[in-house]
Amino acid sequence: MNTRSVARYEGILKVTGDARYEGEIVPDGTLHATLIESPVACGELLSLDTSRTAAFPGFAVMVSHADAASLKPSAATALIREKAIHFHGQPVALVAAGTLAEAREAARAIQVATTTRPAVTDIGQAAGSAYTPAMVGRFPAVTRRGDSSKALSEAELVIRNRYTTGVNNHHPMEPHAVVCWWEGSRAVVHTSTQAIFGTRAIIAHAFDIPATDVRVLARFLGGGFGCKGQLWWPWMFWAMLASRKANRPVRLELSRAQMFTLVGRRQQTEQDLTLGFVAGRLTAIEHDVVAQTSTHAEFSDSTAVYTRLLYACPNVSTRHQLVPTNEPHPIPMRAPGTAPGTFALESAMDEAAELIGIDPLELRMRNFADQDQETGRPWSSNSLLECYRAGAERFGWAHRHARSATKVGRWKIGSGMATTLYPAIRQACRARVSLRVDGSLLVQCGTQDMGSGTYTALGQIAADALGVPMEKVTVELGDTLLPDGPFSGGSQVTASILPAVEVATSKLRATLASIAVADATSPLGGKPPQDLELRDETIRSRTSNAGEPLVDVLARAAPDGLEAEGESPATNHQELAATGMGYGAIFVEIGVDPELGEIRVRRVCGAFAAGRIVNPLLARGQYIGGLVGGIGMALHEETVTDRPTGCIIGKSLTDYLVPVHADMPEFDIIMIEETDPHLPGGVKGIGMLGTAGIQAAIANAVYDAIGKRVRKLPIRIEDCL
Ligand code: MOS
Repeated sequence: MNTRSVARYEGILKVTGDARYEGEIVPDGTLHATLIESPVACGELLSLDTSRTAAFPGFAVMVSHADAASLKPSAATALIREKAIHFHGQPVALVAAGTLAEAREAARAIQVATTTRPAVTDIGQAAGSAYTPAMVGRFPAVTRRGDSSKALSEAELVIRNRYTTGVNNHHPMEPHAVVCWWEGSRAVVHTSTQAIFGTRAIIAHAFDIPATDVRVLARFLGGGFGCKGQLWWPWMFWAMLASRKANRPVRLELSRAQMFTLVGRRQQTEQDLTLGFVAGRLTAIEHDVVAQTSTHAEFSDSTAVYTRLLYACPNVSTRHQLVPTNEPHPIPMRAPGTAPGTFALESAMDEAAELIGIDPLELRMRNFADQDQETGRPWSSNSLLECYRAGAERFGWAHRHARSATKVGRWKIGSGMATTLYPAIRQACRARVSLRVDGSLLVQCGTQDMGSGTYTALGQIAADALGVPMEKVTVELGDTLLPDGPFSGGSQVTASILPAVEVATSKLRATLASIAVADATSPLGGKPPQDLELRDETIRSRTSNAGEPLVDVLARAAPDGLEAEGESPATNHQELAATGMGYGAIFVEIGVDPELGEIRVRRVCGAFAAGRIVNPLLARGQYIGGLVGGIGMALHEETVTDRPTGCIIGKSLTDYLVPVHADMPEFDIIMIEETDPHLPGGVKGIGMLGTAGIQAAIANAVYDAIGKRVRKLPIRIEDCL
């Protein structure tokens, strides 16, 4: 496989508006739907009075928990099958009409009666109900290695602090939408999802129909960041029930305000972190996390999980606890776990370096973990030390104090750094590659492109393997009629599909070679097949000048073209001989206006090592995108609950701050290529690697600039005064 910068496959489609998003597929006769939201944060639905709606023009159908009772019980249907109200804004019914305006009018005429119970809307208010979940994702919630309390009592230096992170919402540009209809007992569902096959499976389960009777399409997504998954399913089910009831297609699109309540959030955390050192080496870590979950389901980020293995340390205790509140349910969001977790750990390392009196970069290098601290396994590959060195050099870390002493206009300059990491994971999946008789290529995989470059990566891997130019490649994604593709999450799509595509293209290469050498009229006739290669649309001999255009071989021997499928195996991470992690070192320079408290990120240098890089142009875009999200978490984004009512305050992109162009620094991205002997295909995820670490690097730079240690996110103007 080559490393090659290829322009985005779907770029022109998107900028010309020709890319059709699923919510834009609106057949004639489609009903438009809206949701009726609960006015209380805790209680029970008593009744929905629809006596006035029938008279409204265009009104077609209402569905509520009563209709959802026909669905099979599961975590995905619980919220819509039951009358319990768990958070302010929880939908209690869906109304569909000829137009959206008519649906809204009719919905307004429906009287909602509920009971009200006192709502818990703050984790502080319910600290007594904190409990320890069994697992956080695929990791145990509580771990203990060695004896941290003994080691802390013997440490030369102990740092103990609380770090807090706020609630964030995902906010992809494209809100969730569904357009669905029934063809007899078969469902067709156009929806914005990060997992078409997962969505198909959950629909089949809920409606108790075979998966093959469900077709889910998501060919283009305007972003996801983790929210286009399970929490959208209940509202999608209601749209499907409405479609079945009215026997017409139904379209539902969430409003921006509903993107704050109905599709998940990054959970709020309070993290107590204690580090113990002897001679500049970590001897003990205790990391206790308390985080918010909802009252209707359990979710915990893997916040303290990476504290278990980032640094060499013999005595480590970690614990996650959850507090259920009457707020929207949290789910993974942009570097789940690693973003809030490294904020605490990498801030504390900076504090420790100052007290020990060594450079914070030196402290990290001294505590480098040369193997997985939890399992004792070797790393599949690990270039973190090189990331530190390369990033520091490019950033000019050694000369930062001369700069920090300076003032540029009204700005006091400060620098900070931090480590980032993300596990290299992958899923089983399949892909199909077809070579047509005209020499063009069709690559098909039932995954989806969130905007991260899946179309391009898939196309270029197949194109390079078969010596076909990208202009002759068609990529089809986002349809469950295609081979089972991976869900888009956990930064694992490219790593997952690469082995499958390589299997499929090797099969095609072998077939082409055998038919070329078997043909006495071919210039390649009689050559050993292993001697052939595919390059520039030609099958060539490696050892002589003989060659024949691909189209000639196909025309003669495969007039219907050739097709092959490949499969990537499932990976059991517990059973691997080595632990796969991607790493990076983030260096930032900021300016703080000491009078106004304003913070500007001026320069960011990220040095990353994540296995083989398929497409450096796209990888750079992914890293920068991740860093931008990290800047948002560090300085801008926070979802605020009005504690008395449980209502989210300022449910708009006017009030919820996200970084804009004026907030953007200069980005310097360094990619350190790794050859990984353990991971099939050698690719590690990059999307979420850039999203963590930068929060702590910014907080550390704020301290460097103005001497104020801010241990909460986001860091706001008022924290710098
Ligand atoms: Mo992600 S937060 O795994 O979409």
